[in-house]
Order: sequence, then structure tokens, then C-alpha cells
Amino acid sequence: MNFNNSSDLKRQIERRRTFGIISHPDAGKTTLTEKLLLFGGAITMAGAVKSRKSSKHATSDWMAIEQERGISVTSSVMKFEYKGYEINLLDTPGHKDFSEDTYRVLTAVDSAVMVIDSVKGVEEQTRRLMEVCRMRNTPIITFINKLDREGLSPLEILSDIEENLQIECAPLTWPIGMGKGFKGTYDLYKKELTLFRPGFESLRDQDGIAVIKDLNDPKLDQLIGIQAKDLRDDIALLEGAANPFDLDDYLKGCQTPVFFGSAVNNFGVREMLDSFVEIAPCPGPRKTTTRPVSPEEEEFSGFVFKIQANMDLAHRDRLAFMRVCSGRFYRGMKVKHHRIGKDVVLSNPTIFMAQDRELVEEAWPGDIVGIHNHGTIKIGDTFTDKEPLQYIGIPSFAPEHFRRVRLDSPMKSKQLQKGLIQLSEEGAIQVFKPITDNIFILGAVGVLQFDVAVARLKAEYSVEASYDSTSFSVARWVKCADPKKMAEFERAHQANLAKDSTDSLVYLAANSWDLKYVENHWPDVEFLKTCEHR
Ligand code: G4P
Repeated sequence: MNFNNSSDLKRQIERRRTFGIISHPDAGKTTLTEKLLLFGGAITMAGAVKSRKSSKHATSDWMAIEQERGISVTSSVMKFEYKGYEINLLDTPGHKDFSEDTYRVLTAVDSAVMVIDSVKGVEEQTRRLMEVCRMRNTPIITFINKLDREGLSPLEILSDIEENLQIECAPLTWPIGMGKGFKGTYDLYKKELTLFRPGFESLRDQDGIAVIKDLNDPKLDQLIGIQAKDLRDDIALLEGAANPFDLDDYLKGCQTPVFFGSAVNNFGVREMLDSFVEIAPCPGPRKTTTRPVSPEEEEFSGFVFKIQANMDLAHRDRLAFMRVCSGRFYRGMKVKHHRIGKDVVLSNPTIFMAQDRELVEEAWPGDIVGIHNHGTIKIGDTFTDKEPLQYIGIPSFAPEHFRRVRLDSPMKSKQLQKGLIQLSEEGAIQVFKPITDNIFILGAVGVLQFDVAVARLKAEYSVEASYDSTSFSVARWVKCADPKKMAEFERAHQANLAKDSTDSLVYLAANSWDLKYVENHWPDVEFLKTCEHR
């Protein structure tokens, strides 16, 4: 397609939906992803996404640790088309130890789908991810999964979500029974009944759907027998008690529309996807350090939210994932890399399909483009046509675990330094250099990150390293408006101060009591839990 004018750009923006799925491990995210890709025709065979887990042919298995532990360490991007919409699904690692990576992926989406296991209700990881969504008021659609199993009642689940996640629920469908007695769902707005037939995975549009405009219609009794009465009672109750769906509240992130279903049986997924493309937001304006940028601005801009190493062992490359935020991107484009003050030609940009990646000729706001990175791109970097912009809202989180690095191969200190710098630029680990000591301290949000760092140092930089424990357990970035006070603070606390990989000053504390004490003594100094990538 040729780029003619701004109406082309507008049309491309309106048909784009860029989202991520948030859930606790095992709630059914992979299964749901697979069904969505089947609807989008991006895969033709069930099991294609699952195979990522069993790690047989996965492109994201860049290291043995992922295979050994059977977890997806890094996230990837899947693009598919549905009903004329271009959908970018950004996958997120479910394991809590890689949640920092997940947080950053969520900075690149316009909305999210939250999967809740109907047997377990709201779980720990969902709660954490929801906090991240709330930081940006990300609109969320909820899919309550596994209705084919005996679980919590639908009302219990809704109040669990409202209480634990502090978000109003607006059911759009309602389940009839559960477990062995699960009969299907009733669409509260279209007034349609969709019948559940276990083991029957329908991809056709009208299978098992009955239009029941009047709940007193005897057809309802014929179709679901004695459960018709329960449904009538439930709907009568909901009419008085449930929140009606409000598009604005959803878009502001204060209400979540709720769907019920069973991903593994491909039940309720189509209803959710149909609503998703209709109500989920297309790419909108994003903040930079100087001004908000509208996606409709013709000048291209984008930012890097993730760097992934060696996705494909045959290439052993590093890919930077860039979200296009405004204008049109095309292959061979010359863009400004503002942080290093250079022009770069993006000659081999990659776009991600469900099972493959291919060269991209053009991309639009909301699309994710992979750029080959030879060590010059960092998380948070912004690329534009001309204007020097810097997108904001891509944080580092204060690590909760610390290790001191011990170099076991004595002649390799240079390689160690290089490896650690690159790993920190990717956001795989945080690296701190104490100001009074010539050592490296690594910080992680999840302890598995340490295993990954050591394994990658060995595999990619031929450096044998191990860890010693440290006395630190809390880190805060420190700032002070008064340079004199800051200098005083630095002199007083040298032994606890370190520089991170961007040269920002960090206070390392033994525990939260120690931190509190220092915070109380230095009221002019700010102690920050997050730090923007620059
Ligand atoms: P995750 O990515 O969120 O970790 O979850 P995943 O989709 O891998 O699903 C976790 C388990 O839950 C899988 O079973 C999956 O088959 C099952 N599951 C997903 N959706 C449903 C559903 O609607 N109903 C029921 N009953 N189960 C569901 P598994 O035994 O761990 O794996 P597998 O052997 O089935 O592949």
C-alpha cells in the first residue's frame, strides 16, 4: 500500500489493536492465545502455541534454562488479522521472576485482556500486573476461564475481582451452570444464548447460538431444562445489582467488561474477540519529556520497550522491539537515534508473526517492529524522523534481590564488564557499581534472573561467574534538588551508595528499617522505587 495522505494514516491507526494478556500462571493464557490466533488464521493447528512451552521448536528458546524450567523467560509479539482489524498481541512471561519484562511489555500496549481461573479467582501475579496496568489506566477486558470445571460462583468471582483488584465489573455475558452442569452463556446485551457442547470446538459463526429476546420464551426451557429458572433468577438479580457496561469507564480503566468461557473448549472466546475489536482502543497519544505525541502526526516516532538476545540461535542476534507511536515506518528508513546523536538506517526491520518473523516493508502506530541491535540500542530509546523526542513511562523497578558477582575466570574481567553492561541494557538484570568498591552488585526483581545472567555470561561472553551474597535487600534511586545537601548525603553514606548502568545514584540498604531511618534523617532527599529508562 502507498502512503498518500493523512487519511491513510488515520485509517491504519483506527484498525489497529495492540494488547497483552495478563494472568497468573496456569489460568489459561497460552490456551487463549492459541484460540485467538486460530480465529485470526495466524495458525491453523491447535497445539502450535503450546509447543512453545514444551520448548521443542520455539524461536524464543534462546537458552537452555528456559527449556529446563519449562517457563517462558522472554516475551514475544504475535500479529494477526481479524474482521479487518490488525491485531498485535504482545505475549508476557507468566513467571513472576520475570515480571519486570512483563511490566515493560505492558508499557507498549493500548489495552489488556485479563484471564482469571474460575476455580482459583484472583491470584497473586494478576494482582501485581493489575497494579502496573493501573499506572497507565490501561483498559482491561476480563475473561473468566475454565467454566467447564466446578469453581467459584460467577457472583463470587466478580466480587473477588472488585475487592482485590479495585475495578468495577460489568458482565457482558453470563454463565449457565458450571463444571459438568455448564450449559453455556447468555449474552446480556445481544440477548443470545450460546450453548456449550464439551469437546466440540466450533470456529463457525452461528453454531450453537439461539436468540432468546424474551427470557420467558419456552424455547429457553427446551434448550437448558431446569437451569432456565436459575438463569431467569440470575438475570433478574443482575438487572438490579450489576453495573451496566460503560464504554468511557472501560476506556478510563475504571471498569472491566467481563466474559465467561472455557478457552480449552474454545468457548466464549469468539464473543470476547468480537467485543474486543469493537471496544478496545486503537493507538492514542503518548507522553514524551516535552509534549504529548498523537499517532496521527505524520512524522514517525517510536520507542524501544524490550531487547531480546539470541531469539534464534542460528543468528545469535539481539533484537530491539520498537513500538511505532506516530506516522508511518518503512523499511530502509533513516531515523534519528537521539540518545547517541546519530542517524541510523533501519534496513532489516522485522515483524513478528505467530510462528515466524519476516521483513517488514511498512508499519503503523501500534505495530511492533524488531530492529537488529549491535549494542547501540537501550530500553527506552526513542527514534524519530526529526524532532528530538524522548518517550516516558518505561520504568525500571527497584530490585528486591541482590548478589555480588564473583569472577571465576580471572582473565575475563573486561568481558564480564561488557556482558554485564549489555545484560543491563536489555533489562535482563540491574547492575550496580558501589562508589567505594571495585565490584559489581546485581539486582533483580525475581531470583531466576540471577540464574539467567550467569548462564548467559557463560554462553554469550565465555565468562565463568558465580555469586556471593550481599548484606543489601533494598534499593532506592536518590535525588535531591539541593546540590549541597546531596553532596552532604553522599559523603555521609558512601558505603551504601552505588551507580546504576545509567550513572544514576542508588542507595542500597540492608533492610527496610535502615531505609526508613535514613529517609527520616534526610527529608530533602527523595528515595524512589522506580526510575525512568533514559
Ligand atoms: P498459562 O499459559 O496461563 O500458564 O495456562 P495454559 O494455557 O498453559 O493452561 C494451563 C492449564 O489449564 C492447561 O492444562 C490447559 O489445558 C488448562 N486449561 C486452559 N483452559 C482451560 C479450560 O477452559 N478448562 C479446563 N478445564 N482447563 C483449561 P495442563 O494440564 O497444564 O496442560 P495440557 O496438558 O492441557 O497442555
